[in-house]
Amino acid sequence: MKKYTALNDISNLSETIKEAILLKINPFEYSELGKNKTLVMLFFNSSLRTRLSTEKAAKNLGMDVMILNVNDAWNLEFEDGTIMNMDTSEHIKEAAQVISQYADIIAVRAFPTLKNKAQDESEFVLNNFQKYATVPIVNMESSTAHPLQALTDAITISELTDNKTPKVVLSWAPHPKALPQAVANSFVEMMQDLEVDLTITHPKGYELNSDITKNTTINYDQDEALKDADFVYVKNWSSYSDYGKILSQDSNWMITKVKLGMAKFMHCLPVRRNVVVEDAVLDSNQSIVIQQANNRTYAAQIILKQILENL
Ligand code: CP
Repeated sequence: MKKYTALNDISNLSETIKEAILLKINPFEYSELGKNKTLVMLFFNSSLRTRLSTEKAAKNLGMDVMILNVNDAWNLEFEDGTIMNMDTSEHIKEAAQVISQYADIIAVRAFPTLKNKAQDESEFVLNNFQKYATVPIVNMESSTAHPLQALTDAITISELTDNKTPKVVLSWAPHPKALPQAVANSFVEMMQDLEVDLTITHPKGYELNSDITKNTTINYDQDEALKDADFVYVKNWSSYSDYGKILSQDSNWMITKVKLGMAKFMHCLPVRRNVVVEDAVLDSNQSIVIQQANNRTYAAQIILKQILENL
């Protein structure tokens, strides 16, 4: 693998999932592969799981890890030809090349503005690192995608699915803040590549990018959508059409034990209890969010392994 900025960088998904599950059984099998190699992780935004699981994954492979909270460094300029006499101190052209002197792989987390749709969709942070860095780039959640999370979710569903095609429902839930569409986008794209029966449910106005949802079933009736589900993946996202706006805070969309039925509950975390999902779900054995969070390590590890093998 040359990089991991999008799901289509995975050449063989079923093999990748199988290998990740094997890494979980024997995480130190390739502890020599990353010897004398360094992962630099750049955070433009907060993280708990991505930061710790990716560091753990790299260390399981024998890599050294350096982490930079970008807000602690110089303010970066991303526009070409700018007269830099205002707030930005360093251009991405130098920054990305300099970081490449210290790194064998660079991982980047950069959320969307949720104000400027065109700028967010251009993935200007991630793509500028790709353009100017001289080492492979890993997406740790960008404006429009969270491919490490989606691989994690695929691993988790694969681990818990028997032979039948499971019914998977992605349900919107309320949230007090405007959140990106990235997790939902990547989850939908990943499920489209798996043997699952996928339904998306959300209030009207919360349609995701139709280039991503394609012909996936969308049902505006949450109760009907959840019927007979095997896995219910819950996530808030802000409106894509009325870009970045909160159109509903309707608490009737919160996931309850009754709504969940017999399904397993999934969420990428962090989650707001009793806003997105009630305590009774999270505290039940139908919740698999901790198993999901654990699988973040093996999703990151299989991706780093495949990149290291190509260096
Ligand atoms: N799910 C996820 O990406 O968690 P963090 O934001 O804590 O990294």
